[in-house]
Amino acid sequence: MLLDVNNLTVDFTTHSGTVAAVQGVSFAVDTGEAVGIVGESGSGKSQSVLALMGLLPDNARVSGSARLAAGNEQGPIELIGAPARRLRSVRGARVAMIFQDPMTALNPHLRIGTQMTELLRRHLKTSRREATERAVAMLEAVRIPQAGQRLKAYPHQLSGGMRQRVMIAMALSCEPALLIADEPTTALDVTVQDEILETIAELRQQTRTALLLITHDLGVVAGQCARTVVMQHGGVVEQGTTEQIFTRPAAAYTRDLLAAIPRL
Ligand SMILES: Nc1ncnc2c1ncn2[C@@H]1O[C@H](COP(=O)(O)OP(=O)(O)OP(=O)(O)O)[C@@H](O)[C@H]1O
Ligand SMILES: [Mg+2]
Repeated sequence: MLLDVNNLTVDFTTHSGTVAAVQGVSFAVDTGEAVGIVGESGSGKSQSVLALMGLLPDNARVSGSARLAAGNEQGPIELIGAPARRLRSVRGARVAMIFQDPMTALNPHLRIGTQMTELLRRHLKTSRREATERAVAMLEAVRIPQAGQRLKAYPHQLSGGMRQRVMIAMALSCEPALLIADEPTTALDVTVQDEILETIAELRQQTRTALLLITHDLGVVAGQCARTVVMQHGGVVEQGTTEQIFTRPAAAYTRDLLAAIPRL
């Protein structure tokens, strides 16, 4: 097992009381496997994965367990409650995350090339030259034309789709074991969405990177994910193979979600 999440709980303390955002969520991701998380807005999808990565704001309280295989002889790493330094070294190297808005991951003040090579040099300890070569290769892999020249660009000089590609290139450049993608293409138009999802699928096949994909688009889950987790009100309604969930949903909530897809 690559990632084993057990009884994950997230509470937020607010002026008007406690918000129970995630309430005892358990799921697992195997090496190389793609798992989809679906469910209505506010069901706790994003806060669940942010909790895993230690990226929640200060008013959040997290409990439960999330064990990540270390990828060496050492036993799994417990992510929940891990020191910030430990989590920083896990993020980027072992687990990478991409978001709906690439500007949350990109620094607007730094050239694309600087950001990519700094990441590579920090996590893979490569030389400057090796890092630049790898950055170019990754931009080519996500089908960015004139990759060498793009390294000199600032994020705002690229289109939304291009920025999303750069974020994917950065996320996968250190060959993480797990890619967490939270609505990675929702902000883009449909043709660009399809291209980008295809690119992720291709790169994953080459590298055996596991994927934890949060999306509202059940069609995307059907196409990309072997297993599906359905969430509502901060909990898991049901989970199983994607085939099971789509053809024999156990919960009324899942049946409603499926009924709402025009394509099926
Ligand atoms: N900083 C915060 N303080 C208080 N409550 C919060 C905070 N962040 C999120 N929440 C609440 O946590 C719950 C779960 O939110 P979450 O972002 O995980 O939903 P989601 O399933 O990702 O929804 P969407 O599909 O719209 O992205 C929501 O009720 C939300 O209002
Ligand atoms: Mg969300």
